[in-house]
Amino acid sequence: FRRVLFRSADAVDSTHETSGGHPRTNGASSTMSTEIDSIAVIGAGTMGSGIALVAATSGIDVHQVDLSSDQLERARAYHDKVLSRNVQKERMTEDEKAEALARISYCESMEDAGAAGWAVEAATENPEVKAKLFKTMSEVFPASAVLATNTSSISITSIATATGDAADRVVGMHFFNPVPVMKLVEVIKGLATSEETVSRTIALAERMGKTPIKANDRAGFVSNRVLMPMINEAFYAWMEGVAEPEAIDDIMKLGCAFPMGPLRLADFIGLDVCHHIMMVLYEELGDQKYFPCPKLR
Ligand code: CAA
Repeated sequence: FRRVLFRSADAVDSTHETSGGHPRTNGASSTMSTEIDSIAVIGAGTMGSGIALVAATSGIDVHQVDLSSDQLERARAYHDKVLSRNVQKERMTEDEKAEALARISYCESMEDAGAAGWAVEAATENPEVKAKLFKTMSEVFPASAVLATNTSSISITSIATATGDAADRVVGMHFFNPVPVMKLVEVIKGLATSEETVSRTIALAERMGKTPIKANDRAGFVSNRVLMPMINEAFYAWMEGVAEPEAIDDIMKLGCAFPMGPLRLADFIGLDVCHHIMMVLYEELGDQKYFPCPKLR
């Protein structure tokens, strides 16, 4: 007899019901509605521009904020490109594309987005930068606004300390790259996060056609606690000559049904990001097994 954790695949699936929205259009089939009609997305890089696009295609007005006008221009071009592909693939009409684009405004200052009822931060993974941003966010956005972070590894509890008495409205809302394609939003509750904030976050994620799943505020949450050591181990396997990089990736793709091998996935995420997350796991969990492979430097 095989030893198993779950009695059947159904037992796993039934724990997390999905909203069923199309990953690249919108999730209008949500069972819970939210009052949110506009959000601010702070940061227009890969993750921020993806979050903004998914919100806009879900009927939400979006303020895409970034200090860099070049970055905003790249985000605008990305939005146009993905929506054009949706039209080409007959997943939406030209009118729907135009409506989605019209819902996004691009601004260089957070103050210009201050009327938004929700803010998602997707800026650099640097605790000092996040602390400054969250202090400003707690001052700029309405007192009812949820202040979410897309951090992949920084403690939600520590980010919330920058916001004073807004800490109950700070939550982790962890999207995955490419945001329009990946179904998951990992929802992380910090020590001070209220239940109301968590349930509103779940409702918004569902409205965006995503499947929210809750995790606790421990280093790497669930996704990177599991994914990053696997990627790190693939680098060690390469370093120790177990196989060539292409072979490592092909073995994991063909043998374990990964859409891309762990080494290519590391490139996709960014080696610097992988190294940073491994350092967070290593320092916060205090176990040698999380030490980043030198090849990740
Ligand atoms: N934006 C929007 N759509 C995109 C896209 C993007 N950046 N990249 C790919 N797509 C779309 C393509 O347009 C295509 O759509 P169509 O149905 O219109 O053809 C579809 O996705 C498939 O793309 P491709 O045919 O080009 O290639 P593929 O089949 O290899 O899929 C992939 C690409 C979706 C990225 C796939 O390789 C994959 O799932 N890779 C793993 C991704 C992953 O693990 N992400 C998590 C990273 S970890 C993270 O994000 C969190 C963290 O904290 C580090």
